[in-house]
Amino acid sequence: MVAVERIAIAAPVLSPAETANVMECLNTNWISSKGRFINEFEKGFAEKVGAKHAIAVTSGTTALHVALAALGVGPGDEVILPTFTMIACANVVTQLGAKPVLVDSEMTTWNMDPAQVRAKLTPRTKVVMPVHIYGHPVQMDELKEVLAPRNIPTLEDGAEAHGAQYKGTPVGSLATISAFSFYANKIITTGEGGMVTTNDDALANAVLSLRDQGYDITRRKWLIHDRIGYNYRLTNLQAAVGLAQLKRMDEFVEHHRKVATLYNSLLKNTPGITLPPEHPWAKNVYWMYTILVDGAAFGMSKDDLMTKLGEAGIDTRSAFLPIHQQQIYAKGYLGQSFPVADRLATQGVNLPSGNNTTEEEVRRVAATIVSLSRK
Ligand SMILES: Cc1ncc(COP(=O)(O)O)c(C=O)c1O
Repeated sequence: MVAVERIAIAAPVLSPAETANVMECLNTNWISSKGRFINEFEKGFAEKVGAKHAIAVTSGTTALHVALAALGVGPGDEVILPTFTMIACANVVTQLGAKPVLVDSEMTTWNMDPAQVRAKLTPRTKVVMPVHIYGHPVQMDELKEVLAPRNIPTLEDGAEAHGAQYKGTPVGSLATISAFSFYANKIITTGEGGMVTTNDDALANAVLSLRDQGYDITRRKWLIHDRIGYNYRLTNLQAAVGLAQLKRMDEFVEHHRKVATLYNSLLKNTPGITLPPEHPWAKNVYWMYTILVDGAAFGMSKDDLMTKLGEAGIDTRSAFLPIHQQQIYAKGYLGQSFPVADRLATQGVNLPSGNNTTEEEVRRVAATIVSLSRK
């Protein structure tokens, strides 16, 4: 019997270029947070997303944390964010002593609904955090229109949306300040890592200082600190991987889009399956190709489908458990309802869709799903 390979949800694709860069760090002793790869990775990433500044940090979470801190978020403030997102988005708000205010998603993008943001604004609203879920950009014009009267800044979370575009403008230059993750399953990776981008000089200086123990960036004097900062510095070793990955980012983005196009064509007539959205103005990078499974129409629940796919050697992941359903947060949102997020969580399943996912694998996954449906 021929053994059938298990299909992973996503895995990094590394090449000899990453190895050569890392070896240069090791051979030259530039293994800490200074070195040419940090500078080149930051410069290249800023160019790629069309931002003036890019500042490398240790993760997507610390990118969000340091961006909120630079925007002055603190105790008593409110930050509006979608409930359908990864928990780090709420945690960084809480860690700064502020309150996460949750809004539901809209079905057409699965992202934060700008109309609901308007309804949740209060005098304490300090920042709004649009998250480009699974690589589809948020309706930024509508959001900015809501925020314009009070000039409320935005922190976009592009952790899942490297290379995505809104009306032709890349994620990373759509907001006051932006955050990215380079975790191993992301479109480009440094193992662990993150980036903050912004066009605002003062915010960039604040992030530079905060990432490095509150170092006094204006005086540039050793051991002089003018605020309480963190050590969120990425290493040259990680940036060495990141720079090689950055050179392939467009290729990886196109790969994700090809995988999505193929899944769409193979699954579009399957009863009970809703395909991921792509607005005409959007370039969705389909970081995770995610479908919704309506159990009654499909013939089995999402959980049962995941079990069956697992038995067939196909890895899947459940869509996010919304923040308002997390036991650590639920008490704060009793009585509020988020029906779209609840549906996305109940029905959403991520299918294999990494940089390494092959056409043959997509065909096998789709055929297995179709064979399990009522068709
Ligand atoms: C939307 C979103 N924000 C933030 C993060 C946190 O990034 P990291 O895991 O690099 O800390 C993730 C990571 O998966 C994410 O998906």
